[in-house]
Order: sequence, then C-alpha cells, then structure tokens
Amino acid sequence: MRMVDIIAKKRDGGELTTEEIQFLVTGYTDGTIPDYQMSAWAMAVFFRGMTPRETGDLTMAMAGSGEQLDLSSLSGIKVDKHSTGGVGDKTTLVVAPLVAAAGIPVAKMSGRGLGYSGGTIDKLESFAGFAVERSREQFLQQVRDIGVSVIGQSGNLTPADKKLYALRDVTATVEAVPLIASSIMSKKIAAGADAILLDVKVGKGAFMKSIEEAEVLAKAMVDIGTQVGRKTVAVISDMNQPLGFAVGNALEVKEAIDTLAGKGPRDLTELALAIGSRMLVLGGLVEDEQSGRAKLEEIMASGKAVEKLAQMVEAQGGDKSDVYETSRLPKAVIIHELVASEDGYVAQIDAEAVGHASVVLGAGRLTKEMAIDLAVGMVLHKKRGDQVKAGDILMTIHANKEELLASALQELEGAIVISTKPPVDQPLIYKIIG
Ligand code: URA
Repeated sequence: MRMVDIIAKKRDGGELTTEEIQFLVTGYTDGTIPDYQMSAWAMAVFFRGMTPRETGDLTMAMAGSGEQLDLSSLSGIKVDKHSTGGVGDKTTLVVAPLVAAAGIPVAKMSGRGLGYSGGTIDKLESFAGFAVERSREQFLQQVRDIGVSVIGQSGNLTPADKKLYALRDVTATVEAVPLIASSIMSKKIAAGADAILLDVKVGKGAFMKSIEEAEVLAKAMVDIGTQVGRKTVAVISDMNQPLGFAVGNALEVKEAIDTLAGKGPRDLTELALAIGSRMLVLGGLVEDEQSGRAKLEEIMASGKAVEKLAQMVEAQGGDKSDVYETSRLPKAVIIHELVASEDGYVAQIDAEAVGHASVVLGAGRLTKEMAIDLAVGMVLHKKRGDQVKAGDILMTIHANKEELLASALQELEGAIVISTKPPVDQPLIYKIIG
C-alpha cells in the first residue's frame, strides 16, 4: 500500500478499507508516514468526510495504536468525561474532582489546546510542577488512592491521536466530524472507563456551529461508544459566548477553583452540575439527576470538592497551596480594560473571536513547537443579556507583551455587541443524546 494512493482515494471521495485505515494509522504512529502526507489526508477528510464504518475503523485503529488500560482492578463503575472543545471551557477542572469527591472514580485522559479552544492539560500545567505524563501504574494507583487522576496522552496511550491532534491544531483540519469523533472516542476507549459522558459544544466558539452538526457529531460518538459496550451519553451545550468569565490557562484554573467552592459563575456551575449529576447516575451512585445535583451542591459547599482538587495537584507533583492561594498561580504584567462605548445590553460575545484573541496573546499555539504563556488571557465582566452603561468595564485583558495585546485588541474588534434591547434567552443545554 502507498500513502499517496490513500490520499488520492480520499481526495476523490472514495471509501477507505479497514486495511487502508490501519495502514495509515500504523505508518503515522511509527513515523514511516510523514506529517506532510498525514496533513494532506486530514484535509481530504475535512472536505470529503468519512462513512460511519470508516470513522469506527479509524477510532479503533487509533485506540489500538498504543496500550489500552484495563481499569477492572479499580472498584466501582468508572465514568469518563470529554468535551469537544470550547472557549473558557474549564468544566473538566470542576467536574473531575467534584464527581470523585462524591465517590465515583475518575481516570481521565485529556488534551492540550486545539485551535482557538483551550485544553485541560495546558490549564493544569498552571500548577507549577504538575505532571501530566504518568505511567500506567502511577495513573491507576492515584485513582485507587484518591479517586481521581487527569493526565495527558502519556507514554504509549493513543500515540496516533497524540500526533494527529497536534498536527490538526496547526493545519486547519480540526473541524471535521470523523476526526473529532475518532480523536475523542479513541482516547476514551483506550483509557478504559465503563461509561462516558460527552459534552458536545455548539455555537460560535465551538467546532460545530449548528445544532444539526453537533447532533451528527454526538450521535457518531454515542454510536461508537455503544458499539464497544460503554454506556455513552452526550450533552449538547451552548458555546456561543465563552463559558464562565475567564479565558486563558491560569485564569481559568482560578475560576474553576472558585466554582468548586460554590462561588463560580452561574453558567459554569450549572453545566458542571448537569454533567456531574449525570456522571453520578452513569456510575450508579444515585437514581436520578436531581439527587445527583443535590449531592454535588452539598460537596461544593462542604469544601470537599476543592480539597479533592488539592489532593490531585499534590499527587501529581504540584503544590496544593496553589489551590488555596490562587495568587500564587502565573500572573500577567499588563492588565488592559475594555470598556463599553454606549449604554444598552450585551447582545453577543463572540466566543471564537475571544478564543483567537487568547491564542494571539500566547495562551494557545500557532505552531506545534510553540511554548504557551500560562498567565495571559481575558476575564469578562459582563455576559450576554447584562445591562451596561457607557464606560463600564466589559473585559480585562491580561497580557505579557504590548505588541501581542495590540494584536489581541484587533481580534476583539466587534466581538462584543451592545444593543438597545435585551437579547432573547439562549439555553445552556440544547439536547441530551444517548
Ligand atoms: N477534543 C479531542 O480530544 N479531539 C478533538 O478532535 C476535539 C476535541
């Protein structure tokens, strides 16, 4: 088989065989297929798509590209969670310790930033010394000891996705249903959880811009999960404006800690409770979401959720004081305020523009090799629907370089729209699938 023929077949709209998909995944993982050929193939998939059979084959080939974890030595039903990616989406930082504090073991493999959307692994590195690479034994032992571990694609877990994910990030090939579905589900399958909760984002700051597209992605992932015997549920949630107020790694970590303490923004708290309570149901801990929600609210108020995050930070090599004293997290030197030029209501906060601005500031990558700046980003002071007066602060921008601040301000031009009438309400959760 030759990669050039496989690229051409997909470019011309053909359906790849199981063997061809296995060939390209194996070849890319072992380095015999170079980045440039894989980029060309990913772009062909972007335009031509894949059939459900091809997507399933790609998922299984990527899941099998490295070792697959057997979590059966951990007691209880293990529940995993994954988001398709959004701006200000720090839900995992809240939900993983929260659900673990309730007694459901969480063994989770997360990703780095992708395109204009941030990644949990980058955010966790805001804790100095936090190790995202763990051996299989360390990972499992930590879940046994404290009930939660969140790691990157360490060692030999889904190496194919690790490479392809980084390549898609910088080749404009992120927004393709088969590539997103196989990327997420290969990690979930290899990480071995019994049940999977998927947060499928939709809107301006999501890779899926319409509810219809989000549903196609959600169904593709739920089908793959169900076929391999994992209980899989997808929540389709809004990503037209950033989630919460903070966007940028350390800024989001601080907001997640506030949320774990029950003092977070309304939308983030609501989403974390909606997702967390369903994870408790999937894990067999409670009968229904209402009881799950009540339990999680109690855990937040008791301080146990923050304590669980602190345990996780310590277990993975960080200093738990960073959780209790968030002023120790990375901080930017330039704070710039963006103010309203007129009275009215916030009608729109373009999440994609905010995401691009955060990347420009240095919170995300423009090339695979680029180092990110954990301190930079922005904090919204107003959300969609809020009333504002001319001169009110809409957003503070945290930057470390004047020239990057200037570029970010250009990205943000027109991102916040103020109108004379309040906008119509938008739901936070549109649909549940599975
Ligand atoms: N998250 C992933 O892990 N992969 C994607 O492709 C998108 C979001």
